[in-house]
Amino acid sequence: MDQTAKLIVDGKTYELPLLVGSEGEKAIDITALRRMTGLITYDPGYANTGSCKSRITFMDGERGILRYRGYPVEELAEHSTFVETAYLLINGELPTRKELTRFSVMLNDHSLVHEDMREFFESFPRRAHPMGILSSMVNALRTFYPELPEESGEDGTNVMFTRLLSKVRTMAAMSHKISRGHKVVYPRPDLLYAANFLNMLFDSPVRPYEIDPDLVEALNVFWILHADHEQNSSTAAVRLVGSSRVNLFAAISAGICALWGPLHGGANQAVIEMLTDIQKSGGNPGPFVARAKNKEDSFRLMGFGHRVYKTYDPRARIIKRICDKVLAKLKLEDPLLDIAMKLEEIALKDSYFIDHHLYPNVDFYSGIVLRAMGIPLDMFTVMFAIGRLPGWISQWKESISDPEGKLHRPRQVYMGEHERHYVPLEERR
Ligand code: CMC
Repeated sequence: MDQTAKLIVDGKTYELPLLVGSEGEKAIDITALRRMTGLITYDPGYANTGSCKSRITFMDGERGILRYRGYPVEELAEHSTFVETAYLLINGELPTRKELTRFSVMLNDHSLVHEDMREFFESFPRRAHPMGILSSMVNALRTFYPELPEESGEDGTNVMFTRLLSKVRTMAAMSHKISRGHKVVYPRPDLLYAANFLNMLFDSPVRPYEIDPDLVEALNVFWILHADHEQNSSTAAVRLVGSSRVNLFAAISAGICALWGPLHGGANQAVIEMLTDIQKSGGNPGPFVARAKNKEDSFRLMGFGHRVYKTYDPRARIIKRICDKVLAKLKLEDPLLDIAMKLEEIALKDSYFIDHHLYPNVDFYSGIVLRAMGIPLDMFTVMFAIGRLPGWISQWKESISDPEGKLHRPRQVYMGEHERHYVPLEERR
């Protein structure tokens, strides 16, 4: 195959090298484009732009494939735990038993947060959104631990990464307790990562929390499915902010902010709000589907569509199975699930959704699982953030050690005024 692409501008032909990924995806390398031609590329939303080479996650949006470090997400959801998957993403290989034990011990050892941080938490207004609290507190965390090392430990388990993974989970639970004026529950050394989180979130002095292994398993799967998704908006934010060589905590804090938006991680909260609106309007999703198709209306079906997947999101299939399992286990009937299934059925048969390749994404059913587990609505995107943390860490680690890595600094096509001159205030009309 020809390893170059030809670009003809004003009758002159330029040859640009082709880059072929390990799964056969091809890219035109335009690194020298501006130097050779004086031109830049225009690609709003970077839909056609590869910003890096990566060895972490492979996605095929046409075939609905998602693999972390080569392992299909379906296999990891079936057999792995979130902690093991986090290790895999960050270090590139599944851990041996010894490595996994050491990683778990470190997660336990680093699970407490500085007591002075509680004053910060308590200063937020009671109704503050936990995503706002979490992004601020992750940034603040670095100022509490200025001595944190940034280099890898001997078995590849990095102290800073482990601290972040463990403390973000503790802080997420703390932000929930404090926002409700409840007593903070500390992490317990006898509990593993997911069980510990549920206990910190739900245990109370008047009602001890009983840990249900099926809910622990569901939470592990939920987090595994969210653990990485290559160059999504929040990961791109982490890489971009990190490219200025700011510390990891500041970069992750930027990622949390990007995730908060309803077009990204905030969609899991937005889906439940939309399903509740449908319920309140009588339970018929038809008018909502009609609104989503109307170009005069900015409304979109939340939990539908994806920049990369042009088929059913593989994560959505798994989360739907988990959803059925959790509801059956808890003997719950959620009317929102019935509405969601009705909505999916209507949309999947509708020519607008078929023609636009719009299918349910991971957020469509995940909110129903979280609701069944008792997670409050405003914590949904925080749950996504805890899950995405290993992805952000591994992508940051890869980007700062990339020999081709550069400060991220896109260009623009300026469409504004030509040069003009300052007019004193009294002469303006
Ligand atoms: N409902 C109705 N129309 C839609 C939707 C939707 N959910 N999503 C896309 N479209 C239409 C859009 O109006 C446009 O139509 P046209 O070409 O006729 O003008 C076309 O599809 C392409 O839309 P786009 O906004 O250019 O596509 P995108 O690749 O930028 O959109 C998306 C990706 C996720 C932002 C979008 O599908 C969306 O807004 N979905 C709803 C929010 C959501 O569920 N987000 C979670 C994404 S998965 C979790 C994650 O990774 O964060």
